[in-house]
Amino acid sequence: MLGPPGAGKGTQARYIVDYFGIPQISTGDMLRTAVKAGTDLGLRVQDIMTSGGLVSDQIIVELVKERIALPDCVNGFLFDGFPRTIPQARAMLEAGVDIQYVIEISVNDDEVVTRLGGRRVHERSGRNYHVIYNPPKIEGLDDETGERLIQREDDREDTVRNRLKVYRQQTKPLVAFYKGFASEGSGIVPCFASVDGSGNLDFIQCKIREVLLR
Ligand code: AP5
Repeated sequence: MLGPPGAGKGTQARYIVDYFGIPQISTGDMLRTAVKAGTDLGLRVQDIMTSGGLVSDQIIVELVKERIALPDCVNGFLFDGFPRTIPQARAMLEAGVDIQYVIEISVNDDEVVTRLGGRRVHERSGRNYHVIYNPPKIEGLDDETGERLIQREDDREDTVRNRLKVYRQQTKPLVAFYKGFASEGSGIVPCFASVDGSGNLDFIQCKIREVLLR
């Protein structure tokens, strides 16, 4: 799943992994878990994440390679927010990771700022809500555990604007990168689809499912 911060990658990823019974691999969630636990990795990446910059390719690629070697990935997995740079994407190709579908969700900058300003997150699971567009059943509490929801530190408007800039400079080039593979028909990354992420959550979910079941 490719797209700017706040495009709805994490939200839509939940539906896809439930439908296909595969794990969601969100590098953002993995890094936040490390920060919360205060591990060496967490201490190394904390400031970069708070500023909205990208963690180094080397750290991320190592983390992902370890994760996809676990037994629950044997029947496939969904990358959410990874790869984020051309070197990360190339590292997956070199490692022989077979990426079958790339789905880009696109949303404009003002919508991103509105969405992230209202986002509330269940820290332990990564489940996310929006105070208006996707509210929890009980205000401020996670639907499944009843635990308190938090606001992410990097969802402040100035940090979000920086994340959007970083997205345009370092991640957006992946759109042309993957589109190129899909159109050459070599069988490497055979399917690329771009989905308009503005509008109703269920409608977007249907559009993505349609692409994946084609
Ligand atoms: P990460 O956690 O991956 O953040 P992100 O990509 O910026 O994406 P977000 O989680 O902010 O947005 P999303 O698209 O998942 O939107 P969501 O579904 O939550 O990364 C965080 C940081 O970690 C990075 O800045 C970087 O430092 C580091 N990092 C992570 N991966 C890395 C990598 N590979 N390389 C280097 N560094 C890395 O939706 C947002 C809100 O909108 C929610 O409130 C939701 O309820 C709402 N919403 C969703 N869909 C709709 C809709 N259709 N209509 C209305 N509201 C909606």
